[in-house]
Amino acid sequence: MKPVLNAPEEICQQIWKELVRATHDRHHAWRTPVLATAGGDGMVNARTVVLRKAREEGGGVLEIYTDRRSPKVAEVVRQPSACLVFWSPRLKWQLRARVDLSVQTDGPYVESLWQMVKQTRAVGDYLGFLPPGEPMPEPRSFDATTTLNAEDAVLSVNNEQANYFAVLTAQVKEIDWLELGPDQHRRAKIAGNQWQWVKP
Ligand SMILES: Cc1cc2nc3c(=O)[nH]c(=O)nc-3n(C[C@H](O)[C@H](O)[C@H](O)COP(=O)(O)O)c2cc1C
Repeated sequence: MKPVLNAPEEICQQIWKELVRATHDRHHAWRTPVLATAGGDGMVNARTVVLRKAREEGGGVLEIYTDRRSPKVAEVVRQPSACLVFWSPRLKWQLRARVDLSVQTDGPYVESLWQMVKQTRAVGDYLGFLPPGEPMPEPRSFDATTTLNAEDAVLSVNNEQANYFAVLTAQVKEIDWLELGPDQHRRAKIAGNQWQWVKP
């Protein structure tokens, strides 16, 4: 059910409630936002990612997992300013979160997450000999030395094969919230505790 909210504080609270929910609920539309970054070639780059964590405290922090060899990681190191775009048809809410991204590849926190991830079928996303985006043979003719299926991946990881797991941490700078309503649309810019209604 879509809540009817009017006060900025209520809307803010609901935004973060929905973001947190999206990290647990596979069917929540906000689970798979689009992450836009500045590409190395001066062009914009964008791709779908999975929202793994959302925390309102500390100004708003979002987390994404990735392969540290993926092109987006190099892009983020070069230019940490990025944008995450969420759309929920149920809520009829779009969020555009302007964020500063940082990349973590080691340390106790990354290691603790890896210990969890390596028990799941997603483990194969962070293994493999080829970095994401590298040319490879046709997937049907996969060579076992080139890539891994989910079962092989679990076996490999138990044998402590090198992994390329990385965490992208997004510190939220500003949220642009847009609600599509039947009669009127509403939009606001939220930066920290500041709320500004703007023309949709
Ligand atoms: C539904 C969906 C979820 C995805 N989730 C992630 C993710 O959480 N992390 C990730 O690195 N790539 C994810 N991908 C793959 C990316 O969209 C992208 O293809 C890949 O990361 C390579 O991007 P890059 O070349 O810009 O680094 C996902 C793709 C889809 C379709």
